[in-house]
Amino acid sequence: MSSVMNADQLVEMGKLRTEWAALEMPVLALERERLVKERTFDGMRIAICAHLTSETANLGRALVAGGASLAMTASNPLSTQDDVVELMRSEGARVHGKKGEDIDSYNEGIVEAVGTDPHLVIDDGGDLISYIHLHRKDLIGNVIGGAEETTTGVKRLRNMEKAGTLLFPVIAVNDCQTKMLFDNRYGTGQSTIDGILRATNRMIAGANFVVGGYGWCGRGVASCAKGLNAHTIVTEIDPVRALQAAMDGHRVMTMEEAAEVGDFFVTTTGNRSIIRLEHMTRMKDGAIIANSGHFDVEIDMDDLRNAAKSTRPVRHCLDEFEFQNGRRIYVVGEGRLSNLASAEGHPASVMDMSFADQVLSLEYLVKNKGNLSNAVHRIPLELDQRVAMLKLKTMGVEIDQLTEKQNEYLNAWESGT
Ligand SMILES: NC(=O)c1ccc[n+]([C@@H]2O[C@H](COP(=O)([O-])OP(=O)(O)OC[C@H]3O[C@@H](n4cnc5c(N)ncnc54)[C@H](O)[C@@H]3O)[C@@H](O)[C@H]2O)c1
Repeated sequence: MSSVMNADQLVEMGKLRTEWAALEMPVLALERERLVKERTFDGMRIAICAHLTSETANLGRALVAGGASLAMTASNPLSTQDDVVELMRSEGARVHGKKGEDIDSYNEGIVEAVGTDPHLVIDDGGDLISYIHLHRKDLIGNVIGGAEETTTGVKRLRNMEKAGTLLFPVIAVNDCQTKMLFDNRYGTGQSTIDGILRATNRMIAGANFVVGGYGWCGRGVASCAKGLNAHTIVTEIDPVRALQAAMDGHRVMTMEEAAEVGDFFVTTTGNRSIIRLEHMTRMKDGAIIANSGHFDVEIDMDDLRNAAKSTRPVRHCLDEFEFQNGRRIYVVGEGRLSNLASAEGHPASVMDMSFADQVLSLEYLVKNKGNLSNAVHRIPLELDQRVAMLKLKTMGVEIDQLTEKQNEYLNAWESGT
């Protein structure tokens, strides 16, 4: 729809959707109020490489309210919401991104965002931070630090740290409890199902639903599929995670076995080649495959394209691949993040916490400028818990406080049986 709208109409649509998301982002709103008073980011340039969604627009608005100037670019070629791009442009941010842009355009966006000579960077997947380190070392002196949103990005940055190539401090926002336990789990769970349903409108109840990887994302997807009465199957390489999946009530098997029985397949591993051609050729006619891991490497798409006798788009965000033997399989969103390609990404309510964590992480970097090593850090637990407390408060939930006696008991060792 957005392709037939002019820029003004897109701005209007972006405004409405961003306001709609803001209704479910009260914690970020509270942090924003504080930023306005404290002007934490006065005069600072912040570059964001993230999914350009209405929730990210609210994060951008909060940073601008705190005094920052903003450059934004997409962290995935298919996750961009064009109305959000126009809205943020109309509010003075420098924004690059278009839903469905090609890789050259995607890379140009990163070059442009980095080219604004940022003091702080927010990354989702590590592409922007790795670009600065590979191609714009000259700008690193001005970078106070970065904040990384997702598991795959944190993994890349930890590899940089190990190799001794990370040249400024980065906060692993993904590793905040108020991010990972909610965004990765419930956010990815619900929005992945949403993406699959929008692309296919298929019945999930009674179907065999295979989830590759049982991290927080995989758990979320498997539990949502189970909630819709699917027969869930999990594949894993980690024995403890596999055991957790088994005791959570999912069947656990190899992908080789699962390939023959699955109706739906979702990969959430952050690893490559989880669904390979040898699996796809065994799948039932009509099987649906989607990826919700960060990069489009979990399904061997090139091998599938080469092996297929024919391919055609059959619905919004759904491509059909037909093999020589007449069997057809269907891939959601070209094997890219299905929840953002085919749906709108996580609901605002969980992004509320993830983006409050982002704000607190950037503030932490500013307040500790010069005192943090060039490593991947976590923000202090108090900040993480502050987000949880604020979220509970906005949900109208109260919790007990430790009594003095309980506190003493928990800190003692003398008394036992
Ligand atoms: N779609 C989204 O909106 C969204 C949101 C958050 C995170 N992510 C991405 O999703 C991916 C998973 O994130 P997570 O936090 O759950 O990570 P995680 O590391 O906690 O879990 C990944 C799991 O996959 C398993 N795994 C690895 N290789 C495997 C293989 N060959 N077969 C089966 N299982 C395998 C691991 O053992 C692990 O249990 C990452 O790429 C992350 O960046 C996506």
